[in-house]
Amino acid sequence: MVIISPSLLSANFLELKTDLERLNTVDNLWLHLDIMDGHFVPNLTFGEPVLNKVKTVSKHKLDAHFMVTNPDFYADSFKDLGIHNFTFHWEAVIHHDRLIQKLKEIYPSVGISLNPSTPVSAIPKYILGKIDLILLMSVNPGFGGQKFIPEIVDKVIELDKIRHENKFKFQIQVDGGINDQNAGYLIQAGANNLVAGNYIFSEPNKDYLSRVNKIR
Ligand code: DX5
Ligand code: ZN
Repeated sequence: MVIISPSLLSANFLELKTDLERLNTVDNLWLHLDIMDGHFVPNLTFGEPVLNKVKTVSKHKLDAHFMVTNPDFYADSFKDLGIHNFTFHWEAVIHHDRLIQKLKEIYPSVGISLNPSTPVSAIPKYILGKIDLILLMSVNPGFGGQKFIPEIVDKVIELDKIRHENKFKFQIQVDGGINDQNAGYLIQAGANNLVAGNYIFSEPNKDYLSRVNKIR
């Protein structure tokens, strides 16, 4: 079963509770939380005070995507927010292995994200063997509602092949510009966790279930 992860970034922030309750009527979702620091990416989003409230309403697993220069710092300060998956950007970190060891002690699932221009080969195999999720960005991180970069499908195929050959267990998550047009071939290529913001939350009647089903 493919997991769909609606990105909170595209929700109506003036009606956040209502939007979260609408998502609670749909099963098998992760709630994708885009945390941006204005340094790693040219945008700021939300942090601990907002997520402290979000966790009291959402029934879904919290999937935190840290687009920050210092994920190590947030590993500690986010530890009581009930986050299920903590994803950091490979490009932002020097001591990857040390950070992964630390995160594994705190979070049930640990992920690594790659920018569109970072090759899959940047991550050594021994790291792939101990990680729970690889997030392949299919837009340049920083904003919702951007256009999908189709070449990312080749990265999904490459990563899926490595996963298969080595019997690795990580999920392949794709994030950015996902809709009912590209979800099919991403799933076929091996993706099993799709993040979608604009496509889900732009449903005119707020029937988010119908958009989730179209992606599935
Ligand atoms: C972009 C974020 C994405 C974004 C996805 O930096 O990581 O999660 O919110 O939104 P859409 O689906 O609108 O591209
Ligand atoms: Zn994201």
